[in-house]
Amino acid sequence: MDKLSIFLFVLSFYTIVNTGSGSHSLWALATYIGGETPFPEFMVVGMLDDVQVAYYDSNMKHFIYRGHNPTDKIPDNEAQDGAYVFGNMYNTLKVRSFNLKNHLNLTEGVQVQQRMAGCEMLDNGEPALIMQKANFNGIFADFAIYYNMTHFTYDAGKLLIGWDGMMQAYKRTVYENVYLPMCIRTLKSFLKRGKNVVMRKVPPRLRLIKKEVSGGLQVSCLAFGFYPRHINLTLLRDGQPVAEQELTGGEVLPSGDGTYQLRKSLEVSTEELKKRHNYTCTASHLSLDNKLDVSWESGAERVHLSTLSALLVIVLIVILLGIFICVKRSRFTASQSKLANVDEKVSEEMNLSSDSET
Ligand SMILES: *[C@@H]1O[C@H](CO)[C@@H](O)[C@H](O)[C@H]1NC(C)=O
Ligand SMILES: *[C@@H]1O[C@H](CO)[C@@H](O)[C@H](O)[C@H]1NC(C)=O
Ligand SMILES: *[C@@H]1O[C@H](CO)[C@@H](O)[C@H](O)[C@H]1NC(C)=O
Ligand SMILES: *[C@@H]1O[C@H](CO)[C@@H](O)[C@H](O)[C@H]1NC(C)=O
Repeated sequence: MDKLSIFLFVLSFYTIVNTGSGSHSLWALATYIGGETPFPEFMVVGMLDDVQVAYYDSNMKHFIYRGHNPTDKIPDNEAQDGAYVFGNMYNTLKVRSFNLKNHLNLTEGVQVQQRMAGCEMLDNGEPALIMQKANFNGIFADFAIYYNMTHFTYDAGKLLIGWDGMMQAYKRTVYENVYLPMCIRTLKSFLKRGKNVVMRKVPPRLRLIKKEVSGGLQVSCLAFGFYPRHINLTLLRDGQPVAEQELTGGEVLPSGDGTYQLRKSLEVSTEELKKRHNYTCTASHLSLDNKLDVSWESGAERVHLSTLSALLVIVLIVILLGIFICVKRSRFTASQSKLANVDEKVSEEMNLSSDSET
């Protein structure tokens, strides 16, 4: 297994992390790697919403808090709690890896277990859910646990024998009364410290981009530079939303600078372009009181352009004609004055000669 595929594993986990607007989340994304690799056997990244706040690995065995500023620190007891929780997770995954290897008769090669565990809280501070998901070698759906204040679900997965009814009841109690409050408490504490980052509101910038493609024009609605990631971006044709299945794109992507971007594109055929349509791109975002929009009208612009170019051609012809006439004229006068000169000279010479004769 190369670095890239491990990276992709981690990425595939990241895409699950999708806190709804009006809530905050704390997730631990853990990777356990069995076999010879240049990586630590166990690594965890702690995410507060979509911002990395913590790191732990089996080589360091320390909980590293990553604040927005390099000087940000958390109290020692919290760092110790973190190290304890992640240390436990490490041991659990190690045992599970051993059992899975045995069970599946895997004697060599690299095995990767991934686990995502964490909780979500509503904006008003109420806990919303706690969840744990696991997979093995990226292919198998391993077990999952989910509790959302009303329902507890447990999926044993297909790899190992799951918990029996008694054990499930016990786990439910533990998740409900121990893990969830603990996770929410930590989430609140991190939120207090990281609020400048995760609670900031950066409004989107909006563009309507037109690009020539074969068979017509691609009209794209682009919103970029916004935070948080939740945005409603709609492309309207004459005031009506264009159906999602006509659009391409639509995935919110990180821009790499802590903000997000989203693009939705529509292909408009050359036929359609001749018709007069009003395309409007509209965005609503937490940072905006009012919707943001930009519009463009098809058809109109073309007519406009062709009249404009016709006008231009006429103006050009007139100018050229003017130049032509001017040049003709000046040539004519020049030759006339030349003739006049010659006349003068001749008459002068004649005068002279007649003078000398006299
Ligand atoms: C593993 O090997 C044992 C004994 O060789 C066999 O009984 C078992 O079915 C194998 N398991 C798998 C998942 O291939
Ligand atoms: C919890 O999940 C169940 C099943 O998915 C759903 O029916 C229920 O509405 C959820 N409860 C809350 C409070 O979200
Ligand atoms: C296009 O529609 C939007 C809203 O639907 C409106 O604000 C805008 O003025 C319209 N533009 C034109 C050129 O009609
Ligand atoms: C997006 O639209 C939905 C449904 O109309 C609404 O509930 C939500 O608050 C909107 N989100 C934003 C960021 O405006």
